[in-house]
Amino acid sequence: MVKDIPQAITIDGPAGAGKSTVARELARRLGVFYLDTGAMYRALTLKAVRLGLNLEDASGLVDLARRTRIRLENHHSGTKVLLDGEDVSEAIRSPEVTNKTFYIARAGGVREIMVGWQREIGARQSIVIEGRDVGTVVFPEAARKFYLDADFEVRARRRIKELREKGKQVDEDSLKRELQERDHKDFTRAVGPLKVADDAVVIDTTPLTVDGTVDEILKHIKNGA
Ligand code: DC
Repeated sequence: MVKDIPQAITIDGPAGAGKSTVARELARRLGVFYLDTGAMYRALTLKAVRLGLNLEDASGLVDLARRTRIRLENHHSGTKVLLDGEDVSEAIRSPEVTNKTFYIARAGGVREIMVGWQREIGARQSIVIEGRDVGTVVFPEAARKFYLDADFEVRARRRIKELREKGKQVDEDSLKRELQERDHKDFTRAVGPLKVADDAVVIDTTPLTVDGTVDEILKHIKNGA
């Protein structure tokens, strides 16, 4: 990568395709900042839920975004998410936040603000950025774009494993139902829907490990994908 000009590598894809772990490891290997855009949408959702706001009221959510500071810090132990200075890294992963983030994600005015924050971070430094619209909307000019996908069953199993490893109780049927609903909302949102950028490299991670996926991405980068 060119040292003086910040570059963005974008990774989009559905929930459970392995984006977060892959993006974090890729950023570590390249020595650049890892930007988890989903964490921003989740953090704002958490704030709106705590305040008891009407999640159907898009203009109220835009006002909320305007008076909110979200900061992401990368540490060895993972990404620390600071919501107005409070560490909410764990709280934003709750099932309630996971299932309510779509209200924030579908509000066009909120997305504009989020995209602005993400571009500011990308203007300061090279990044690996991960989300749903990062190659299509946030950094359409990015030189390296990837779209990670995997079979539905595999994505569901990964989520189940992740939650169980954190000691959470998981009902497999409801998790699958919720994942299906999230997929539907991600693909059909009027603004910033999940789609494959024309110039993205699509990688099916179904048979791949995290390291295998990162190796594959690095191979494309070196070959000038
Ligand atoms: O990647 P994640 O599961 O943490 O994302 C949480 C939700 O945030 C996801 O269901 C959709 C939304 N999101 C979005 O709309 N745009 C992004 N760039 C990232 C996430």
